[in-house]
Amino acid sequence: MAKQIKIGVVGCGYWGPNLVRNFRSLPDCNLKMICDLNEQRLAHLKPLYPEVQGTTDYAHLLNGAGLDAVVIATAVNTHYPMAKASLMAGKHTLIEKPMACSSAECQDLIAIAQKKGLVLMTGHTFLYSPAVRKIKEIVDHGDIGEIRYISARRLNLGLFQKDINVAWDLAPHDISIVLNIMGEQPETINCRGSAHINSTVEDVTTMCLSFPNQRSAIIHSSWLDPRKVREMTIVGSKRMIVYDDVAPLEKIRVYDARVERPPHYDTFAEFHFAYHYGDVYAPYVKQEEPLKTECQHFLDCIRNGATPLTDGNQGLEMVRILEASSESLKRGGSPVELASRLNGEKSVRPFPGRPARLAVPKMVASGVGGQKFSPPADPKLRIKIQVNGRQGNGQQTNGHQADAR
Ligand SMILES: NC(=O)c1ccc[n+]([C@@H]2O[C@H](COP(=O)([O-])OP(=O)(O)OC[C@H]3O[C@@H](n4cnc5c(N)ncnc54)[C@H](O)[C@@H]3O)[C@@H](O)[C@H]2O)c1
Repeated sequence: MAKQIKIGVVGCGYWGPNLVRNFRSLPDCNLKMICDLNEQRLAHLKPLYPEVQGTTDYAHLLNGAGLDAVVIATAVNTHYPMAKASLMAGKHTLIEKPMACSSAECQDLIAIAQKKGLVLMTGHTFLYSPAVRKIKEIVDHGDIGEIRYISARRLNLGLFQKDINVAWDLAPHDISIVLNIMGEQPETINCRGSAHINSTVEDVTTMCLSFPNQRSAIIHSSWLDPRKVREMTIVGSKRMIVYDDVAPLEKIRVYDARVERPPHYDTFAEFHFAYHYGDVYAPYVKQEEPLKTECQHFLDCIRNGATPLTDGNQGLEMVRILEASSESLKRGGSPVELASRLNGEKSVRPFPGRPARLAVPKMVASGVGGQKFSPPADPKLRIKIQVNGRQGNGQQTNGHQADAR
């Protein structure tokens, strides 16, 4: 067996324990050390992983454990200083989403990783989800035709964050999926929102990403909704996909439905023929925890010297969009062009109260990829459907997967 990769995880609050559980389960990984400023969090995890060392001192994790790689799951405003220290110490580094608080910080991390020949990866977990990979396959195969628009809703009574608004917290999941499906960057971003609970942090936002050829994506994010909703609709010229990540089974449904404008019509009945209603089918989606695939991918990239699917550049693209959304929020929702930022516009930290501390490559990991999707030719073979706790221990919470908030 190949030498195990020695890993340390910093941040053992809500999400870190899920990373700890997954790295701990992978045979080619030796999870050596976990770190959190909060001793209670370390004490909570100790009985679950007695062989893993715990420390409150990040410098000790970086220098005292002989690690190959570091995984950062702390608050967003600490990502940059911690990741910089990790890269400077010569460690491959996986940073949770969003990668940093500004595009300048992301660029700096990318440059350091490049200079030192280290893997830099961001935790855009949904790109490792079998459901999202299936959707990508269906879209790339041309089954739904040209994408017209995507709408996404990610709502619940949320885990309120102090340092970032709901767009920076929840929308990265939807943005990463949208960019993956659209296969290109948006031209402009509009974002509107309101702050109901903490007057300086928006808890409800609606973001619109406008793409070339009149394509768009609307992303609604809220910490103030009674129901947990994780839903995305992809409207194509031939078919439409509805992705419900909360559904235990049949997370994806493909609707053979479309509207075709008839060239001429004299009556309302004739106009109605323009609506096409066909079958609805639910393609098979493998049950596999996305975070486990993500963790394995990080190890594979370290071992093979490969570029991760969600590398530093993807982290940067995401942060550029989030920065533009914050700017648009400030301007009352007016459009902010992304191109101007790509052309060297100075990036500013969008949350000024805080101290200034401390293009998609092909995936190489095993277990990622798969058969091309095409709906069964025989309609009878399709699965038809009638048309008409704040901090965890990282144990699985949502059937087969960690509960990405
Ligand atoms: N990929 C996903 O699906 C997903 C889901 C949830 C959260 N996240 C991301 O994970 C990150 C952490 O989120 P969370 O909800 O777990 O936050 P959290 O506040 O619950 O936990 C953060 C932990 O980091 C510790 N910490 C902070 N500074 C530290 C330092 N200097 N040294 C050591 N420990 C330190 C805190 O004590 C806390 O326990 C965020 O970036 C968030 O966006 C990702």
